Amino acid sequence: MRVLVGPDVPLEELYAAPAEPWLRVNMVVTVDGAATGADGTSRSINNPFDQQVFRLLRAQADVIVVGAGTLREEGYRPNPLPIVAVSRSGRVPPTLRSSPPGRVLLATCAGAPGIAEARKLLGEEQVLVFGSHRVDLAALREALVQRGFRQILSEGGPHLLRDLLDEGVADELCVTTVPHVIGGLHPRISNGPPVDVPLHLHSLVEHEGTLLARWFVER
Ligand SMILES: NC(=O)c1ccc[n+]([C@@H]2O[C@H](COP(=O)([O-])OP(=O)(O)OC[C@H]3O[C@@H](n4cnc5c(N)ncnc54)[C@H](OP(=O)(O)O)[C@@H]3O)[C@@H](O)[C@H]2O)c1
Repeated sequence: MRVLVGPDVPLEELYAAPAEPWLRVNMVVTVDGAATGADGTSRSINNPFDQQVFRLLRAQADVIVVGAGTLREEGYRPNPLPIVAVSRSGRVPPTLRSSPPGRVLLATCAGAPGIAEARKLLGEEQVLVFGSHRVDLAALREALVQRGFRQILSEGGPHLLRDLLDEGVADELCVTTVPHVIGGLHPRISNGPPVDVPLHLHSLVEHEGTLLARWFVER
């Protein structure tokens, strides 16, 4: 492992969040910009070095925030860390429906068709309603901080990443670039209407051609 940019310290130190509260998003991408591989998920493009940083970021987090599309596609299961599912429709992803109490929260909006069922499945306290027709992500962040979740990790997906950046809610974007070109039709790591968010490079690490970059959002 070589640190190309940033202090030459162990990964745990290099990835320490500089402040609290802090919200970062972690994504993996191929050299030609694909956010998914042959199986339609990021599982077919990630590699052991990416998994190492993926686990490290979870170890440093209090809570994981994930878009419902990713939860559905990747079949997320309950985790020792609480998972916040962000969903406009308010439908609890199938693999999270029988989670132990308190392990899964749903962030949705008042008009969501699935809201009543979500309350039954997860409990009233676990269903957070922000806004009438879209989830107010800044309000979600604030509510998570109020619950004591000060290190917030989002694992995407592409639509949620785009919205977190657009609404000024993300502090950092961690991107692993894996040394593959895969062609085909795949989403990029951000998806949705155009945004233009300036970033600066905090650190860059290389291991066997895989690049781990930490990008901080310009304030
Ligand atoms: N390369 C990577 O690192 C990476 C990471 C994560 C995911 N992925 C891949 O990305 C694909 C999924 O892409 P995606 O763009 O659909 O993922 P996504 O952003 O996780 O899911 C989109 C869905 O999440 C909900 N959502 C997202 N942003 C929202 C917001 N601001 N407010 C309210 N709801 C919001 C909506 O759910 P409802 O439909 O329930 O309303 C929306 O339809 C999968 O193939 C997955 O494997 C790749």
